[in-house]
Amino acid sequence: MALLDRAIARVLPAVPKPVVRRLASSYIAGSTLEDAVPVVRRLNDEGKLATVDVLGEEITNAHAAHEIAQAYHRVLARIEGEKLNANISVKLTGFGLELDDALCRDNLAGVVEDARVRGNFVRIDMEDSSTTDATLRLYRELHAGGYTNIGVVLQARLRRTLADASGLENVRLCKGIYLEPEEIAYQDADEIRASFRATLRALLDQGSYVGIATHDEELIADALAQVRERGLSPDRYEFQMLLGVRASRGDELVRDGHRLRIYVPFGTHWYEYSVRRLQENPKIAGYVAVDTVRRLAGR
Ligand code: FDA
Repeated sequence: MALLDRAIARVLPAVPKPVVRRLASSYIAGSTLEDAVPVVRRLNDEGKLATVDVLGEEITNAHAAHEIAQAYHRVLARIEGEKLNANISVKLTGFGLELDDALCRDNLAGVVEDARVRGNFVRIDMEDSSTTDATLRLYRELHAGGYTNIGVVLQARLRRTLADASGLENVRLCKGIYLEPEEIAYQDADEIRASFRATLRALLDQGSYVGIATHDEELIADALAQVRERGLSPDRYEFQMLLGVRASRGDELVRDGHRLRIYVPFGTHWYEYSVRRLQENPKIAGYVAVDTVRRLAGR
């Protein structure tokens, strides 16, 4: 990232919320499920799958965690009712992980069971490193209890990730968005890429189904080489991208016969997700400049 972009990414938390909202609008499907459904349908029409995320972080009480779980039940019902080709992605802090382990487990188990009955699948997103152990533990508990319609996420940034990959059946592999200290995480972009490549290799070697979640051309090329080398059919892996990021590269992957799933977030708690996405946009300085000129011109 260029110096100016990096500087602007750092001060984003100080940018007024309405500006963040406007700049991040392409990353979010809208505030309600009504907004998300047509987005998923359009993606399906383009030959892409979706994973729907109900935005909700910073949960401070059991009621709010329960509300998020209820929102996911509504999403699952709607996916089934509208015959959409989509699954769901959940965050365990949204289900109450930081409040009470049992509350979180109950909310998660309820959603996973609902998904199972409807023939659907639940991906457990991975959050910052304080949640890694608990997330993998809850995933393993449910999996050992017979739920095969769940998967987790591994973050190549973490030094532990290659070891964590062992024995996992269904994994989304990403770089990891949360900045973590050097003792536990690679800091250098090339080291993170090397960890991604090695973990992907280990997962494919053990026969895991992998969601290859990256927009990084170098990693996409490596993944394509790895699946080609193994002669894997396109139903044995999928690429994954975020809504609003490198859509034309996604179109190419679909045209070339690969599965592609798009992460579709919606909800009223859009702020934290939006800031994370904008901080990753390598052209953030240009975005902010254009928005500022538009606002000044509009005065
Ligand atoms: P990188 O950030 O280097 O981006 C590569 C290129 O993509 C950039 O050069 C640019 O062209 C484009 N690009 C990337 N982000 C952009 C943006 N916001 N706006 C415009 N262009 C952009 N992380 C996590 O910790 N836990 C999780 O559960 C998940 N889940 C998840 C699901 C899916 C489907 C994806 C794709 C990603 C995640 N992530 C995640 C996020 C992930 O860890 C990572 O932060 C981002 O994918 C960015 O990393 P890339 O590998 O894309 O590389």
